Amino acid sequence: MREAVNARLKVLLPEPGDHHELLTAAMRESTLAPGKRIRPLLLLLAAQGLGESRPAVVDMACAVEMVHAASLVLDDLPCMDNAKLRRGKPTLHLSFGEDVAILAAIALLSRAFGLLASLDIEPDRRAALVAELSRAVGSQGLVRGQYEDLREGRGARSADAIARTNELKTAVLFDATLQMAAIAAGADHGTRQALGAFALELGQAFQLLDDLQDGAKSDASIGKDVGKDAGKSTLVAVLGCQGVKARLRQHVRNADQLLGKVYAPEQGVRLFVSELFARFG
Ligand code: IPE
Ligand code: IPE
Ligand code: MG
Ligand code: MG
Ligand code: MG
Repeated sequence: MREAVNARLKVLLPEPGDHHELLTAAMRESTLAPGKRIRPLLLLLAAQGLGESRPAVVDMACAVEMVHAASLVLDDLPCMDNAKLRRGKPTLHLSFGEDVAILAAIALLSRAFGLLASLDIEPDRRAALVAELSRAVGSQGLVRGQYEDLREGRGARSADAIARTNELKTAVLFDATLQMAAIAAGADHGTRQALGAFALELGQAFQLLDDLQDGAKSDASIGKDVGKDAGKSTLVAVLGCQGVKARLRQHVRNADQLLGKVYAPEQGVRLFVSELFARFG
């Protein structure tokens, strides 16, 4: 499935004909760089488990990965996390300049929505997919999460306030990913509710794992800078590593229980999620 996503992304984001055309190259390189592809795989596995495996699902998975890649490019900018390394390579603004990085991120977002709008799928589902992803990105989603993380994260915050920011900056895109699988499959309300609740637990667990990594020793396998959260009010700063690990375990347990309302234990999406958090199950 990862190969199918990568192959389709290569088609959707072709190499620039003129090799000096930086914008097209930046869009392609930032998206195709070796990320884990967790969101597209989740979308494909969740849809497959609901009996939906039309080709359009791969394009939906690519759209989510383009949004995610754009969010990373922006997150790394000097005015945000000022990161040097991403997916094992220099950050996009270091390779291409800040101007190209910003424009490439905007173009990737636009490409993602254009892709959804032209899917070969029932028109009502297509419209619902566009609405779902736009809700996740916008000023009540990822963008607000980043805003809170940057502007409120500098001061002291309660654990609840930090968890709310983590929900917006990370869990909401997981929610959209699962909801998109459910929309394509024509899933019922109960399924969508369970998947939404699952995504929130998954997103919380995922950001806590990321924050623990940020505080750990530099490790080439994660392919990005560590220590970027220094001085920020993260849950690691407020609760300590042990407190965060206990909280992470609870989110992983809740997530698996919620996913179990929709999928059998041997279904791919259950196995994938338990593998992601094998150390914290
Ligand atoms: C990083 O996401 C940003 C967070 C939400 C913590 P990933 O850990 O999925 O990054 P890639 O896609 O593997 O590079
Ligand atoms: C997640 O937070 C950022 C996004 C949702 C883009 P981080 O700032 O911790 O992500 P990394 O650690 O840079 O990948
Ligand atoms: Mg950040
Ligand atoms: Mg960052
Ligand atoms: Mg981080």
